[in-house]
Amino acid sequence: MTVTQYIAAIDQGTTSSRCMIFDHDGRVVGVAQKEHEQIFPEPGWVEHDPEEIWSNTREMVGSVLAKTDLTAKDIVAVGITNQRETAVVWDRGTGKPVYNAIVWQDTRTDSLCDELAGDEGRGRFRETTGLPLSTYFSGPKVRWILDNVDGARERAEAGELAFGTIDSWIIWNLTGGLHVTDVTNASRTLLMDLETLDWDHDICEAMGIPVSMLPEIRSSSEVYGDLALPGISAGIPIAGILGDQQAATFGQACLSEGEAKNTYGTGNFLLLNTGTEKVHSEHGLLTTVCYKLGDKPAVYALEGSVAVTGSLVQWLRDNLGIIQSAKDIEPLAQSVDDNGGAYFVPAFSGLFAPRWRPDARGVIAGLTRYVNKGHLARAALEATAYQTREVIEAMRADSGVELTTLKVDGGMVVNETLMQFQSDILGVPVTRPVVNETTALGAAYAAGLAVGFWESEDDVRNNWAADKTWEPQMDEAERDRLYAGWNKAVERTYGWTD
Ligand code: G3P
Repeated sequence: MTVTQYIAAIDQGTTSSRCMIFDHDGRVVGVAQKEHEQIFPEPGWVEHDPEEIWSNTREMVGSVLAKTDLTAKDIVAVGITNQRETAVVWDRGTGKPVYNAIVWQDTRTDSLCDELAGDEGRGRFRETTGLPLSTYFSGPKVRWILDNVDGARERAEAGELAFGTIDSWIIWNLTGGLHVTDVTNASRTLLMDLETLDWDHDICEAMGIPVSMLPEIRSSSEVYGDLALPGISAGIPIAGILGDQQAATFGQACLSEGEAKNTYGTGNFLLLNTGTEKVHSEHGLLTTVCYKLGDKPAVYALEGSVAVTGSLVQWLRDNLGIIQSAKDIEPLAQSVDDNGGAYFVPAFSGLFAPRWRPDARGVIAGLTRYVNKGHLARAALEATAYQTREVIEAMRADSGVELTTLKVDGGMVVNETLMQFQSDILGVPVTRPVVNETTALGAAYAAGLAVGFWESEDDVRNNWAADKTWEPQMDEAERDRLYAGWNKAVERTYGWTD
């Protein structure tokens, strides 16, 4: 009798925690998902409760096993993928966080970033880390905690505190105290040298962060340790860690130089695999680690990160109440023929790639009495597509790579109106895969490759299949007219902070 075995993937994202189970063909066998609270203590601040995140994650592991009627012995390995950059600092002795997780979208460290930039400017650490000094990344968030939580700096200097991105926090709890991260997550901290794949001690010192707080950096695909969860039998290896956008790149089988994917989640993240060469951007993109499989050389990526896309739909639902649920955005947008002249630039966390304008704040421009909520819904969807075009233009300028088709995934790709408009505004076809859960799938692949469940990257390539492709239907003059309107609206977002 053949025993069927599976891989589990934990996907701890910005809005929810999930556990998914995949079979050898890369098909979804089961999923359990739970949202967590978004905490907004002040304008521009975004926090999560790390203990809520851990308890939801743990619950989802149990819940997916119960739903699928599987037990721990059916699972050969676990992969972890996570919202990146979000920073947690906890006490090594008690395992208790000293402060809430400061989320990647949080802008409280803007003046700290200016201070750290000094005369050298925000590109001060770019050569080493591939990143500009920005509120987006973890380093300044950790510094903020050490500066603002009573006694934290003294405790950190005495070796009592640990820092981790969410992967580290989850693994610490899953294993009962293993303190590790992978190269992809470490490459989002502003503290890792992209060349050595180790912490840069000079940058840590400049940032005011004791190196003793930092996790050990490991590859994205190897056995780190075993699950030690009471109630779920111990002994399943944790064998893959990838930041969620790198995981989606892997799950989309973008495993050769020149291949790219765009994920439509809370924000949008376009990653182009640049092979074992680091490409330094001249046009506002990030250089980051794409993945590293065990002892093989690291593969790098150019990344265009857009802070707000899907979260704009949530904002229309939660803050304005013009839709009841996220899926209502599409029929509302279809109630009109076009944007009615309105543009919506959701610069809620400033603007990320390719503009990097921390002083930007959101605007709705082009309003007349004619504009109704259908036009606003349409403008919100279009904003996602325009921001993607900006990133693709920057990528073309940096790499010379002309995308012949764009592979897409993430929650918003079920929105046909958006996908058609995306293809129209880019003038290239847009393709969605059969398994759209590429983030969790990528982490499952990393874990499965480490334990021999899959043999090589060719298995990943062979499992990928297209579901639907949207072809451009818009003429060039209309495309240019709309994009010019967008650019005019973006200009209006600048200069809103002191
Ligand atoms: O860099 C932030 C990114 O990792 C967040 O992804 O899918 O949790 O919104 P997501």
